[in-house]
Amino acid sequence: DVVGEIGLDVLVRRLRPLKREKQVDFTVVNGENAAGLGLFPAQAEEILDAGADVITLGNHTFDKHQIRPMLEESPFLLRPANYTARAPGRGTGYYDMGRCSVRVISLQGRVNLNYNCDNPFTAADRILKDAERATFTLVDFHAEATSEKLAMGYYLDGRVSALWGTHTHVPTADERVCPKGTGYITDLGMTGVIESVLGIDPRQSVEGFLGGLPGRYRAPEGPAKLQGAIFTLDSATGLCTAVERIDIR
Ligand code: FE2
Repeated sequence: DVVGEIGLDVLVRRLRPLKREKQVDFTVVNGENAAGLGLFPAQAEEILDAGADVITLGNHTFDKHQIRPMLEESPFLLRPANYTARAPGRGTGYYDMGRCSVRVISLQGRVNLNYNCDNPFTAADRILKDAERATFTLVDFHAEATSEKLAMGYYLDGRVSALWGTHTHVPTADERVCPKGTGYITDLGMTGVIESVLGIDPRQSVEGFLGGLPGRYRAPEGPAKLQGAIFTLDSATGLCTAVERIDIR
């Protein structure tokens, strides 16, 4: 999750050097918090220019209505696949990389996330059954509950190359290769200001919890971090051999 203008700035400065250093071939960035809540088309372009091959989204997909045309037109911007057919945009993409192909699936959880979406488990089944098969399949599961994300990890183990969670903005220390070969981590964390409550100014967050009026969203300021994970994938099996958590301050 890239959060706010400072998060975007860190991504622009740090992603390409990281990709070079770690020899990264394909990059997925969750962009739903680039504008705090949602993202603007110019920010989506900036994320792609920074080195992302695909942008995934989540419960804040439609918070900035200006994103709608890009959702409908760009194959590189994915909203959760388990939204209803009335929702604009697409939830999965197929990318031909020459030596191999990549399928990316965006999904959203239903535990403690109020959005009108279909069961993400059966939605994943449907996509894996119907969609053209790629060398690698990557899943961004945007969900609140660790239980829902872990369960999805087991459900898709051996059927996708890698599955990571987003949304909580706090990284989990459980990166691993699952028993049947899927690379997994419950949450990647966030790219944005370090001294913040999930990307919100701590003073505003605390005021809300005290029962006061936190006021309009103000972006926090200060030093930032870039968090994520690198999955090493084997093109012979389509599965994962190693997962490395990334945390650059
Ligand atoms: Fe979210």
